[in-house]
Amino acid sequence: MRNITLANITEAATGSFDGLPDARQRALVQGLVGHLHSYAREHQLTHAEWRAAIRFLHQVAALSTDTRSEFTLLSDVTGVSSLVDLLASGPDATPGSVLGPFHTVGSPWVSNPANLIAGNDGQRVLLRGRVTDTKGRPLADATLDFWQNASNGMYWQMDPTQPADNLRCQLKVDDQGRFEIATIRAVPYQIPTDGPVWLDLVQPSGRGSWRPAHFHLIVSAPGQRTLVTEVFDAEDPYLDTDAVFGVRTALIGRYDAVTDTAACERLGVPGPQCLVMNFDVRLAGAPAP
Ligand code: BEZ
Ligand code: FE
Repeated sequence: MRNITLANITEAATGSFDGLPDARQRALVQGLVGHLHSYAREHQLTHAEWRAAIRFLHQVAALSTDTRSEFTLLSDVTGVSSLVDLLASGPDATPGSVLGPFHTVGSPWVSNPANLIAGNDGQRVLLRGRVTDTKGRPLADATLDFWQNASNGMYWQMDPTQPADNLRCQLKVDDQGRFEIATIRAVPYQIPTDGPVWLDLVQPSGRGSWRPAHFHLIVSAPGQRTLVTEVFDAEDPYLDTDAVFGVRTALIGRYDAVTDTAACERLGVPGPQCLVMNFDVRLAGAPAP
């Protein structure tokens, strides 16, 4: 096309990807290019503004590696990660929430009930629940991948004072779909504040950097959609201002004083010191292939 104009450039650009062989990839690329063109038109984007946006993305890229992704943080603070989680959440199932940067594959397998407390200080708690399908039928083949931060707010990967694999595990539920993990109460902590996402975007917006305390869970079972989610603490002061939009009402759990002290004591935690949170997980059926 030798006469590109304001009237034909969007069609020319989107049409130039007609040859992408995979239909889904073609739709995603053409949709993105089309929306970017609409955005530029709507805001009458200037050279200086587009250069500034590209400079910002360069800075985001410069801080993104396999172990730290400023790009993922950008997706998190703009709500895109949470939007994709919500789109993937099945009806009647426990909703998804952000994976975050501190999941690493290969957590140690432990027996269920589990005790992760080891040398950690912090409030002793028992997280227990049941994994079912959306009809409430127990999924006896389900597995859980669990991780959380320590009482100083840090995950083990960020903190040389913690032993490897601190406060993370994988386990199988029992034949009723039940799980029990003795652990410590998670605490709130801040998203990274040393990169362009915080310094140039979130902080100037007057937003906070805190995430409310949470446990992370990945729950899988044969024939069901794998769920990546989080469980929040009902008493946390940051529930309404999570920096990454992860909170859903269905993911807020309450700690109760233990009535069944034997459950804590079986795990070596003195009953009167222990709080219990019940959190049941409903998995959605796998989508048709
Ligand atoms: C987290 O849950 O660990 C997390 C999620 C998004 C950004 C930073 C941390
Ligand atoms: Fe987290």
